[in-house]
Amino acid sequence: MKKMAVLASGSGSNLQALIDRVHEKEGMIAVVISNKKNAYALKRAKKADIPAIYADRSQVATDEAYDTDILKILHAYAVDVIVLAGYLRILTPVLTEAYANRIINIHPSLIPSFCGDGYYGMHVHQAVYDRGVKITGATVHFVDSGVDTGPIIMQRAVCLTGNEQPEEIAAKVLEIEHELLVESVTLVLNDQIEIVQKRTIRK
Ligand code: GRF
Repeated sequence: MKKMAVLASGSGSNLQALIDRVHEKEGMIAVVISNKKNAYALKRAKKADIPAIYADRSQVATDEAYDTDILKILHAYAVDVIVLAGYLRILTPVLTEAYANRIINIHPSLIPSFCGDGYYGMHVHQAVYDRGVKITGATVHFVDSGVDTGPIIMQRAVCLTGNEQPEEIAAKVLEIEHELLVESVTLVLNDQIEIVQKRTIRK
């Protein structure tokens, strides 16, 4: 079985979906790493007897040094695939080059809409609300050197009436994120996704 590392900064509901539906089934979550000491994601990992590590950014001088420390952890756990599940840091080339085409991210909009610099968490759903779009959703994609620019693996839509507040939009999208991430990670772990230039195809 391939080994995963899940990087998370927040509550970890996407991590929980992977623990419940992928871990020890399609692959192994070898380690969970967070840049936030009190991230509930770390508690979810410990509850599942998965190694949980808080990596303190204040202990190192640069983002590159921080990612080098993360890379040492990934090598120590023989990680094959990295999953970013609500990880609120931008990866440096230290990680994106070492794990080229092996880093998966979930973004709570239909890329290329409402993504890129500044579009994370509730900022995404506020922008969706403000624009008044009637379809939003989630995207799972490979991570490259840009922000939310890597090849798309899967997307799933959520229809809106226009009556939802941003918080309700977030809840509706989060619900389909869990299923989308589980399906996407399963495809990658089973080597069923091929990257052709900037696109993905099913093998
Ligand atoms: C999700 O909305 C995800 O799309 C975004 O951050 C949020 C993480 O939620 N990247 P959780 O921590 O998995 O509950």
